[in-house]
Amino acid sequence: MARVLVTRRLTAGGTDPLRDAGHEIVATDDDIPLSAEELATQAAACDGIVCLLTDRIDADVLRAGHNGRLRVVGNAAVGYDNIDVATAHALGIAVCNTPGVLDATTADLTFLLILAATRGSTEAEDDLRHGRWNGWGFTTHLAHDVHGATLGLVGYGRIARAVAQRAAGFDMEVLHTSRTDTGLPGYVADLGELLTRADIVSLHVPLTESTRHLIDAAALALMKPTAVLINTARGPVVDENALVDALHAGTIHGAGLDVFEGEPALNPRLLDAPRVTLLPHIGSATIATRTRMARLACQGVCDVLADRTPPNLV
Ligand code: GLV
Repeated sequence: MARVLVTRRLTAGGTDPLRDAGHEIVATDDDIPLSAEELATQAAACDGIVCLLTDRIDADVLRAGHNGRLRVVGNAAVGYDNIDVATAHALGIAVCNTPGVLDATTADLTFLLILAATRGSTEAEDDLRHGRWNGWGFTTHLAHDVHGATLGLVGYGRIARAVAQRAAGFDMEVLHTSRTDTGLPGYVADLGELLTRADIVSLHVPLTESTRHLIDAAALALMKPTAVLINTARGPVVDENALVDALHAGTIHGAGLDVFEGEPALNPRLLDAPRVTLLPHIGSATIATRTRMARLACQGVCDVLADRTPPNLV
């Protein structure tokens, strides 16, 4: 029997794989992120950690674990920029994540933002809620069409492809760009060309040193003044200050964001920016999907602890 730290509250049944394998689960009932010190202390005393993207599993935590008994970290998220994977690998600590189980749910949420940002529903609802609606107006709340628009997907992994499937139902032309030529219809080698041609740009790249601020002032300047930017990937892929400037200047029409540069802290300028829809990182937040993610992360930890190679090894 191994000892596994579960850093935050998971959905009901999420830790079943750990229980079924007979492991001891170290968990708290509250849902407050552990401090760096608490994580390091626990890492040294556990064989496995199941963590969330809000937990920074840095070199200090991993070294503390390595000096103890830590063998595996299972991230209940598909993105793993919160984990120092290079150090984990150097120390022989396995890392796993949750690919595949959240694609459709995150694509649904991406479409919610596409629709909201393109049709301006957030500002329209805000007018209604704040007594600024005086009745149906022929020329008020005018926005842009989603159907028939050109969608530019930056990154073409599983989630982007699930978004492309949904776009087909809206008769959209879908372009995509990615590091390697997909050889598929709609592939555009040059990000700049995609930004120039798309009415809606949706980001689906992991956060790495090469994608940090991929969408900066220069990239925004390439977009159409009628275009919207959607980010359900990771906040730092977009330079938020440059985005706010672009929204005020009318360089682009609008934006829909589910992720933020300094989350959970919000750039106050974003809250005051025009034509933005902001959501608190809920891309995968359905009961079914979060339960699948929890189980997959726990199963990966169980596999490593049983000397099996999990399919979701990073
Ligand atoms: C959510 O953002 C995830 O990476 O799973």
